[in-house]
Amino acid sequence: MSGISLQSVSKRYPGGVLAVDGVDIDIESGEFVTLVGPSGCGKTTTLRTIAGFETPTDGSIRIDGEDVTDAPPYERDTGMVFQDFALFPHMTIRENIAYGMEAAGEYTDEEIDARVAEMLELVELPGIGDRTPDQLSGGQQQRIALARALAPRPKALLLDEPLASLDKQLREQMQVELRRIQQEIGITTVFVTHNQEEALTMSDRLAVMNDGQFEQVGPPEAVYDDPDTRFVADFLGTANIFDGTVLAIDDGYATVDCGDVTIRAQNADGIDSGSAVSVVVRPERFRFETASADGGRQRPDAANVFEGEITFKRHLGSSVEFRLETDDGQELVVVRRSGLNERAPGDRVTVTVGADDCRIVET
Ligand SMILES: Nc1ncnc2c1ncn2[C@@H]1O[C@H](COP(=O)(O)OP(=O)(O)OP(=O)(O)O)[C@@H](O)[C@H]1O
Ligand SMILES: [Mg+2]
Repeated sequence: MSGISLQSVSKRYPGGVLAVDGVDIDIESGEFVTLVGPSGCGKTTTLRTIAGFETPTDGSIRIDGEDVTDAPPYERDTGMVFQDFALFPHMTIRENIAYGMEAAGEYTDEEIDARVAEMLELVELPGIGDRTPDQLSGGQQQRIALARALAPRPKALLLDEPLASLDKQLREQMQVELRRIQQEIGITTVFVTHNQEEALTMSDRLAVMNDGQFEQVGPPEAVYDDPDTRFVADFLGTANIFDGTVLAIDDGYATVDCGDVTIRAQNADGIDSGSAVSVVVRPERFRFETASADGGRQRPDAANVFEGEITFKRHLGSSVEFRLETDDGQELVVVRRSGLNERAPGDRVTVTVGADDCRIVET
């Protein structure tokens, strides 16, 4: 198994579109990396340069330590699954899976038969080898597309929105299944999606793309909890974002004037007074205050306090989401664990959040 390395890769299409703009990443052997970002940000183009279907305008690509920047796709040993995972309709499932090995012309019939059987076991569909694709469900076809890509033992698996055409339930099931198979064979995988939840739940690391660039690369928890930019905070999960100007800095914390509110926030290193910044607060970071017996607040030292009224409440399963309108006219999203929350729309509430849970990001 082998890693993939992109160095300053750019791709400008004939006609002028700069689809990929200087991306760098070292993907380790066996790692599952997701490229996530809005439509048109360059995910497919990046994947196609790794597969060899596009040649980068600048930069270099290594697979398994070998420079493949100018190598054709068939010399790169990658297996690719496309969004529509088009199986060959007139071939049986067995023939579909065998296709890459037959085309390579390096395997005996016995080797191919054994590998096809092994792949059908891997995707947990033994015994359907004689059917044709139209006799399978969408999820089964998807697994066969995966088996077909894996059969020739590629060095890396490249997946372009392979689950996009499946309905929600099947999609979630296939997310787990795909990850199981990937871990079982330990294959280096680059997965493309514009679905942020999929990116957060499946990956070892994700690269958030915007306008041809990687805005941030890191493990899901780190990118979610510590976004570097306003774009990343907004794109992944729900974020309360306050735009403002830094009034003062002390001890790595900043006091930020956000118009109607002043917020104390962390991650102020390298930021100057007077800078325009955004402050991000994840909804789970707020806490409701309950008045203590003497009428005072439970957390009198909390750096940031908001008073307001609940306008909306919905259950998300194990948690509950509240929308609040503060007395300053801010709309806040607050998420708390179910069962702890008797509060309802119309209730007046106080929420607090510590400075460590408010993060300054690039605007
Ligand atoms: N063959 C092409 N010729 C010219 N421009 C292209 C070509 N393919 C893609 N583009 C442009 O390059 C940019 C990036 O496209 P790409 O397909 O990589 O985006 P994407 O992130 O995969 O989007 P989506 O989520 O919609 O699939 C877009 O502006 C697109 O219009
Ligand atoms: Mg795409």
